Amino acid sequence: MSILKEENYEFSFATSGDSALELIADNDFDLVLLDVMMPGIDGYEVCIRLRENPDTEDIPVIFVTAKSDVDSIRKGFEAGGQDYIVKPFHADELLARVQTHIELYRAKKILQHNNLSLQTKMVRQATRIDNELEESQKEMISVLIELMEATSDETGKHIRRVAEYSRLLAHYHRSISEEDANTIYAAAPMHDIGKIAIDEHILHKKGKLTNEEFLAMKEHAAKGEDFLRVSGRKIMKAASIIAYQHHEKWDGSGYPRGLAGEAIHIYGRIVALADVFDALTHKRVYKDPWSIEDAVAYITENSGTHFDPYLVEIFEANVNEFISISKL
Ligand SMILES: [Fe+2]
Ligand SMILES: [Fe+2]
Repeated sequence: MSILKEENYEFSFATSGDSALELIADNDFDLVLLDVMMPGIDGYEVCIRLRENPDTEDIPVIFVTAKSDVDSIRKGFEAGGQDYIVKPFHADELLARVQTHIELYRAKKILQHNNLSLQTKMVRQATRIDNELEESQKEMISVLIELMEATSDETGKHIRRVAEYSRLLAHYHRSISEEDANTIYAAAPMHDIGKIAIDEHILHKKGKLTNEEFLAMKEHAAKGEDFLRVSGRKIMKAASIIAYQHHEKWDGSGYPRGLAGEAIHIYGRIVALADVFDALTHKRVYKDPWSIEDAVAYITENSGTHFDPYLVEIFEANVNEFISISKL
């Protein structure tokens, strides 16, 4: 010990295995010199326990002992010791080995720390890129919505309210995550983007559409899907599903494909209900607004035919929230 003291190392010592473990647990040592033969638990056991504890598993252990047989030395390394010095030893030898192991230990700690901060930095950077991508998707959506307002019969208010109802339905849905609810919120505004490709006189016609005109109008679903399919990103993907499926009906009588029940994507089912409720409660070129009571009754009556019954349940249980949105 006096050798180490002369070299200005700070150290503590214990006289039994148990007290050594306590001392190590209470301090932040850079190195442990361990005798094999000690009262109570022996040095091997102390070393094994240090290795089992995540707080102490990396502290270097050098056995310093009079046991010089091969089996004892092997046991020392098997217990997790870094080095093994047989007594009697030369002071310089002890010092050199202590110094080497302390340096190694410190270098290892620095490396671990740097690795950790590198990892944190990379995670932060990835999150930033994700956020930026999502922001640019949202910007693109606003541009598309403005374009749609300018060219179709949909008003910006209708588009925004549909997004609000849709998020609410998704929020209360037992198997939709908040993240997906936000995706629907961002994607729902584009449900009628396909109308950009529909003839103006059909879009703005005051009277009833002829069969032919109605067929042309129906094409907005597939056209919307066509526009949006190009992107593999989350929001655009959701938007393309919604554009394609928001006129499908639970009983299979909708368009463009006549899908039924759960074959219709949940995003499509949600926006179908939101879109109809908002269209009913507001004025359109072809119709006056319905009263809230009548609109609510329509949704309820069409559970299981037009709408997913579970979504109607959610709508009924939270009807006041839907009515508040309709007044936005
Ligand atoms: Fe539509
Ligand atoms: Fe709509």
